[in-house]
Amino acid sequence: MTQEAHAQPPISTIAVIGAGTMGLAIARLFASTGRSVRVYDARIADLPEFPGIEACSDLPSCLAGADIIFEAISEQLSAKQALLRQIQELVGPVPVASNTSTFRPGQLAEGLVHPEAILVAHFFHPADIVPLVELVPHATTASSALTLTRSLIAEAGKVVVSLNREVDGFIANRLQAALIREAVWLLRQGIASAEEIDAAVVHGIGPRWALAGPFEVMDRGGLNIWQAVTERLFPLLSVEASAPKEILVHVERGELGAKSGQGFYAYDAHSASPMSRLGAVLLAASTPVPSKDPAPTEFRSA
Ligand SMILES: NC(=O)c1ccc[n+]([C@@H]2O[C@H](COP(=O)([O-])OP(=O)(O)OC[C@H]3O[C@@H](n4cnc5c(N)ncnc54)[C@H](O)[C@@H]3O)[C@@H](O)[C@H]2O)c1
Repeated sequence: MTQEAHAQPPISTIAVIGAGTMGLAIARLFASTGRSVRVYDARIADLPEFPGIEACSDLPSCLAGADIIFEAISEQLSAKQALLRQIQELVGPVPVASNTSTFRPGQLAEGLVHPEAILVAHFFHPADIVPLVELVPHATTASSALTLTRSLIAEAGKVVVSLNREVDGFIANRLQAALIREAVWLLRQGIASAEEIDAAVVHGIGPRWALAGPFEVMDRGGLNIWQAVTERLFPLLSVEASAPKEILVHVERGELGAKSGQGFYAYDAHSASPMSRLGAVLLAASTPVPSKDPAPTEFRSA
């Protein structure tokens, strides 16, 4: 099981360092569960007000008395390592959960006096809506730091998935990258347009995977079927080992996707993000459908 029952974690104050897209959402999440939250950001003047969140004007006042620290500053290894050193100089071995998307906790903890205090708690954007948080220890992360972080995040209603050991990309981004590699291959070969490939995910495997992960999908499809599918298809799948040229060509033109108005698709100010519907979709997915029939029809195809 991914969720465990925990006693109320003994925490009086949570500090969040970095109050951009992720940090603010993480701070709001904990504040909305009644926790006392402090935030500090290098751009202190821009911080919006939110009930239960205290914006601090410097790092020491944000950290003073904090029982746990969530790090959500920009994705630069040297900046994160420098901040972690500063944090340990100020408050010693207080657990620090980094929201990094790409760095292993072992990299973040390198050279620190208290490496055992460091772990990754990887939230997904938008962090107050997407349920998953990946919890990633490195070889010497203290079990007390893991337990405290896990119970606090679970108390806030999140689904915590714990990795046994660190790996680049953790779980979800590795899975996502594998799908994207194959999607780009299909586009490159002219098998289908980006629209058609996206539709196959949105209307096909996507809804199914919202309800059952790959191992349950294999079980329900039949392992003999998946033996045949993997035997036949694995040798034919893309093994590209660098960033695909289909992405690079856009980046070189300054086409960064929705945020610049052009990517694989064109966007304007009126293009609604699917993220705006995400909360409703997740709620629907987690609400059991009342059924009069003894058993709903199950998907069987591979
Ligand atoms: N945006 C996402 O979709 C997403 C998802 C999961 C994880 N992450 C990770 O979360 C972290 C934050 O990402 P984001 O998207 O919120 O970035 P962001 O650019 O929106 O926010 C980063 C904030 O950190 C502040 N900052 C930078 N250096 C600082 C320092 N030394 N001290 C205090 N504040 C500092 C910046 O002023 C900025 O407000 C990154 O590690 C990122 O990889 C992002």
